[in-house]
Amino acid sequence: MKKTILITGTNRGLGLALTKIFLENGDTVLALYRTHSDRLQELKNNFKDNMFLFEVDVTKEIDIRDVFSQIRRITSSIDILVNNAAIHLENHRPELEKTDFEAIGETFEVNSISPLKIIKYGIPLVKNSHNKLIVNISSEAGSISNQTWRESEYGYCMSKAALNMMSKLLHNRFKKDGVKILAVHPGWFSSDMGGPEAPITPLQAANNVARTILKEWKIDDQIFVDYDAKLMDW
Ligand SMILES: NC(=O)c1ccc[n+]([C@@H]2O[C@H](COP(=O)([O-])OP(=O)(O)OC[C@H]3O[C@@H](n4cnc5c(N)ncnc54)[C@H](OP(=O)(O)O)[C@@H]3O)[C@@H](O)[C@H]2O)c1
Repeated sequence: MKKTILITGTNRGLGLALTKIFLENGDTVLALYRTHSDRLQELKNNFKDNMFLFEVDVTKEIDIRDVFSQIRRITSSIDILVNNAAIHLENHRPELEKTDFEAIGETFEVNSISPLKIIKYGIPLVKNSHNKLIVNISSEAGSISNQTWRESEYGYCMSKAALNMMSKLLHNRFKKDGVKILAVHPGWFSSDMGGPEAPITPLQAANNVARTILKEWKIDDQIFVDYDAKLMDW
């Protein structure tokens, strides 16, 4: 059955690649972006009828509310809602003494709080759908237990741990409505965030993530998983 899928951060990286994969599969994609890109426009040109573009900064709640009222004019249901947009402002791994606390705040705003804003307005449409799936793109960087090896990148790691907590809270709240929540670590891939050294491309990562998302999930199955649908430690 063809699905309606909402994805944030679709102009580049994983979000763009996921959009391409689902469109090629015949699904309808509600593609949210902040900055337009030629590659996004190219997809729109190729998939005119199945792709709907919405410009929004995911930190801005009023703009998100407006986007969802536009979306409601197109569809009353969203099968899969993917919170993908994120920032990592500490790729050079500054020491604690050089930590920029404003950057940490901004990172929390985009990576932890904005996904909850998107879900606030998206959940009624997800509940109306067949699949009823919410996917928060997380990271092994947000795993506190034995996966943690970093000594800094406070904002990014802490914000992804918070996203994981949000995923569990949403699971507790919405499982009675049949909504499944996943927090997916996509692996290390060569986007602007991942850098050129990464072992796989965004398209390879997106194929892995799409395969994981499309598994037959049951409500009480694991929440935090990797690109192979394997359980991750919180
Ligand atoms: N790359 C990796 O190796 C890796 C590893 C583990 C997890 N992840 C996770 O995978 C996801 C995708 O990462 P990526 O590597 O594809 O990142 P990326 O190439 O840096 O792209 C980030 C995306 O997020 C969007 N974005 C950032 N702030 C936004 C805002 N305020 N409003 C709307 N959109 C915003 C960007 O839009 P603009 O162009 O407008 O900035 C862009 O589309 C993220 O959740 C990331 O944490 C990545």
